[in-house]
Amino acid sequence: MYRYDEVDFRLVNERVAQFRDQTRRYLAGELTEDEFRPLRLMNGLYVQRHAPMLRVAVPYGMLSSRQLRKLAHIARTYDRGYAHFTTRQNLQFNWPALETVPDILAELAEVEMHAIQTSGNCIRNTTSDHFAGVAGDELIDPRPYCEIIRQWSTFHPEFTFLPRKFKIAVSGAREDRAATLVHDIGLHAVRAADGEIGFRVIVGGGLGRTPIIGSVIRDFLPARHLLTYLDAILRVYNRFGRRDNKYKARIKILVKAMTAAGFAAKVEEEWSHLKDGPATVPAAEFEHMAKFFTAPAYDTSLSRNDPAYTAQLAAEPAFARWVARNTREHKVAGYRIVTLSLKATGVPPGDATADQLDAVADWADAYSFGELRASHEQNLILADVRETDLFALWEKARAAGFATPNIGLLSDIICCPGGDFCSLANAKSIPIAAAVQKRFDDLDYQHDIGELDLNMSGCMNACGHHHIGHIGILGVDKQGSEWYQVSIGGSQGEHASLGKVIGPSFAQDAMPDVIEKIISVYLAQRHADERFIDTARRIGIDPFKEKVYGQAAH
Ligand code: HEM
Ligand code: SF4
Repeated sequence: MYRYDEVDFRLVNERVAQFRDQTRRYLAGELTEDEFRPLRLMNGLYVQRHAPMLRVAVPYGMLSSRQLRKLAHIARTYDRGYAHFTTRQNLQFNWPALETVPDILAELAEVEMHAIQTSGNCIRNTTSDHFAGVAGDELIDPRPYCEIIRQWSTFHPEFTFLPRKFKIAVSGAREDRAATLVHDIGLHAVRAADGEIGFRVIVGGGLGRTPIIGSVIRDFLPARHLLTYLDAILRVYNRFGRRDNKYKARIKILVKAMTAAGFAAKVEEEWSHLKDGPATVPAAEFEHMAKFFTAPAYDTSLSRNDPAYTAQLAAEPAFARWVARNTREHKVAGYRIVTLSLKATGVPPGDATADQLDAVADWADAYSFGELRASHEQNLILADVRETDLFALWEKARAAGFATPNIGLLSDIICCPGGDFCSLANAKSIPIAAAVQKRFDDLDYQHDIGELDLNMSGCMNACGHHHIGHIGILGVDKQGSEWYQVSIGGSQGEHASLGKVIGPSFAQDAMPDVIEKIISVYLAQRHADERFIDTARRIGIDPFKEKVYGQAAH
């Protein structure tokens, strides 16, 4: 993975010293609340319902075991012993005391981490495919490109005060696992007929109160033009994006107002001044970056389906089920990609305790070359596990509560912190996730239902991606009490779609029944091997409405 150079260390350490002084002055009453707010937000520090919340950047989801141990140490020393992985592959601490935050940042800097640009109207952490570098369907490893974008966007002087926050996602594989269609900019790798690598450029996607699927503004951007073209997009946005109304300030609103073609024309015009200029990425820079992401020392003498491993699969059905559900094929024979599920029933989705984080760091060292990834589905990935180590890993993961064989199933819920933590929430989300997980705790039943994305947000900001869940749940406020609106038919990936609301919202207690009724319609109507989302697309929302609301819905 990428390692800081002298410049990175200096930037981050200087920022820690700066923030230490700002915090001291605020606590001494020398800075007002209003003066301190932008300073803390530039360092990922929000003030939430009960306490400050610190969001730590995890660049494109990559973590080393050393970093994870540090995060565990911070959770234990400065917080309440746990941390939360977010849908943007970052990590949040929910309970740090303000006066300790400079110390936390100093500890993070020791392991090449920070919280810079994880909040505020700037370019946020670039996200990517959590299977980068190991997926069989990969065209390019997106991480060197993400790192180039990270360096370009960190402290970019022109883009520190954008109309609104800005999120970029990069996918290097055929399957889009980075949700590129619902980001401000999505970059999807493509290979031209002559073999040249470049990107399809998508702009103006987003969730929030106005969900929009992004539009392609360029089918092929040669990789060397990556930064000049990003500069051009950001300039057009920075100049023309609305600043009068924060709900209309995201780039998606500008693209919609200008039309994708109109926006693209403006970008091309701006780009004509920048193209081939100093920000053109030289081949040597790509080569330099690629060296940080070379393959680990795989044992290339291994073959697939080692006999000892095959025997373990046959002897232990629970192990076989976990392998089938929570691991996937690796591009190197004899290895598999393991997803550790952070979605055990009753545990807030994405939460992990300090002890669990330490344990995962140990497994990363023992079984996966000391690295891991956080996924935007709020799970952790050990990308390079030998088939012959899977059984030992499974036993340990099971004991630690990370081996629920539910990846991609109903209980693998994406969920924002909601009303338990977030001051913007209309409703709690974690207890609904727990109630649904409890209702469907029978894993055989979940396996029979098959692939299903259930996503939930505690308000229309959509941090829990409810619009692109096959089933989406949104917390709404009705005369001061918490209600839940349900949508069906959303999806992420290449054919991303936004779910349709099925009707009036429900009380919290009703939610498990509602989900069960929706599932029953699917089970009754599905064709053989048809996934929930495909049935929902084929039959539309009416049969679901009928079942949930009864005839009265008509
Ligand atoms: C302090 C807590 C949080 C606050 C105040 C907050 C605030 C917001 C707001 C205001 C939006 C809407 C932006 C817009 O429509 O322009 C948003 C969107 C979003 N947030 Fe959060 N959020 C918080 C926590 C989280 C967490 C925990 C996650 C991940 C689990 C997250 C991930 C996202 C994502 C993925 C979106 C939608 C994508 C987008 O359009 O930007 N946020 N957030
Ligand atoms: S969706 Fe709303 S409730 Fe949930 S974290 Fe985002 S802002 Fe908070």
